[in-house]
Amino acid sequence: MSPPSPDTPGADPLDLVIFGGAGDLSIRKLLPALYMAHLHDNLPADTRIVPVGRQPFSRDEFLKMVADKVVPFIDPDTLDTAAWQAFLARLHYVQLDATQADGYAALADALRKNSDRVYYLATAPSLFTDICAHLSAAGLVDARSRVVLEKPLGHDLASARAINEQVGQHFDESRIFRIDHYLGKETVQNLMVLRFGNTIFEPLWRGPAIRSVQITVAESVGVGSRAGFYDDTGALRDMLQNHLLQLLCIVAMEPPVSLDPDAVRDEKLKVLRSLRPMSPADVARDTVRGQYGPGAVAGERVAGYLQEDRVPEGSDTETFVAVKAHINNWRWANVPFFLRTGKRMAERVSEIVIEFADLPFTLFPDAPRKSVNRLLIRLQPEEHVQLQMMAKVPGSGMRLQPVSLDLDLQSALSGRRAEAYERLLIDVIRGRLTHFMRRDELEAAWSWVEPIIEGWQALNERPKSYAAGTWGPAASSALMAREGSTWLEES
Ligand code: BG6
Repeated sequence: MSPPSPDTPGADPLDLVIFGGAGDLSIRKLLPALYMAHLHDNLPADTRIVPVGRQPFSRDEFLKMVADKVVPFIDPDTLDTAAWQAFLARLHYVQLDATQADGYAALADALRKNSDRVYYLATAPSLFTDICAHLSAAGLVDARSRVVLEKPLGHDLASARAINEQVGQHFDESRIFRIDHYLGKETVQNLMVLRFGNTIFEPLWRGPAIRSVQITVAESVGVGSRAGFYDDTGALRDMLQNHLLQLLCIVAMEPPVSLDPDAVRDEKLKVLRSLRPMSPADVARDTVRGQYGPGAVAGERVAGYLQEDRVPEGSDTETFVAVKAHINNWRWANVPFFLRTGKRMAERVSEIVIEFADLPFTLFPDAPRKSVNRLLIRLQPEEHVQLQMMAKVPGSGMRLQPVSLDLDLQSALSGRRAEAYERLLIDVIRGRLTHFMRRDELEAAWSWVEPIIEGWQALNERPKSYAAGTWGPAASSALMAREGSTWLEES
């Protein structure tokens, strides 16, 4: 049974509870996204938002905090006074220590009888199981209730399994929304359309027609104020285990039989299960760990990771990771997938580069045999698809030069592009699971990542240093060079 649609006449009112309701994610992403959903009439009329936190805010104090801290994350052009006041009227803050059972009576009082409930756990994953157990014991979970779990879900396979197991005692799998906000990005969803809404790519979408695939998620920001979380997490767990592997799944999966959640997730799971397990020797050879040192980003001097606020002295947490992965199936045998992500890199850019095979033979004496054909799919900051081809330079003789066929999707398709969190929150409210991770998917991702973590522990090496504002350690280019490839910005 799927959760009732908010559009169903007579549906019960919705109470949307956010644990960590006054925390960083709620302030920067969730409350702004809910405001936008409200503004565009995507919240059921009778929705209450119940942020839950430990701070003893009165209603006025909470609203002041929202005015001071949340408003800066909302596009000022969308701040309509009447809509904003109506949004604030939906907020009902509850003070609660999520680890203590006795506080849940206050939450029960704030929820309406027979309301349809969504619990968004924007807290450390170590609290997930306690919160679910306390909600259940307080009689706040029924067969319609949904729970949203923020990433990273666990620290390794065992902790992810334990969380899944325990949350599963209170919520059916069809009610569990494991969020990976990359799956909510318009551009990431468009990748599915690029692949399965067009016929021209599919015949070539495989080895050996494709020589390699690069997936980059580069950030120019540093760790900021999040060292407390980040230093225990690192780039592999924070980004690669989830966002990059999800992108890899969408690039590599077989066409699903439909857009039903399980049809899509079955195909992604097959990709994750086909990832070639990494031996300790593979980890030593095919992965790169980096940590940013001092440098300059966009012309400004910035501190190194070790000098950032609250980073423990001598920390060896990686802020950059590059991996060469292989998918053991017919479509992708022998096609390396290069994944990299890092903080304090030269630019903020997320992109996928499909490099096509080299020419079997070159007819043109001055042209390289190495193919210039590549499809670049840029996901952010701007949405852009570019196909590079070889063309003849006008004039006598046969001089060749690569040229690009460019598609700027931003200008080709106007219309509001909702933020990932807004789209995903609406999916949760409507009970649409397609863009959320299923338990087996998440565990398969951890199963592949765990040998990398263990391999690094066995190697016991410090991460390689890279200057802030660069593309990561030199070893990352060497990883590519061994396969005769280069990262896009070096080509
Ligand atoms: C989050 C990570 O999941 O994604 C952050 O925890 C990272 O460390 C962020 O900065 C990047 O998201 P986006 O949407 O800005 O690419």
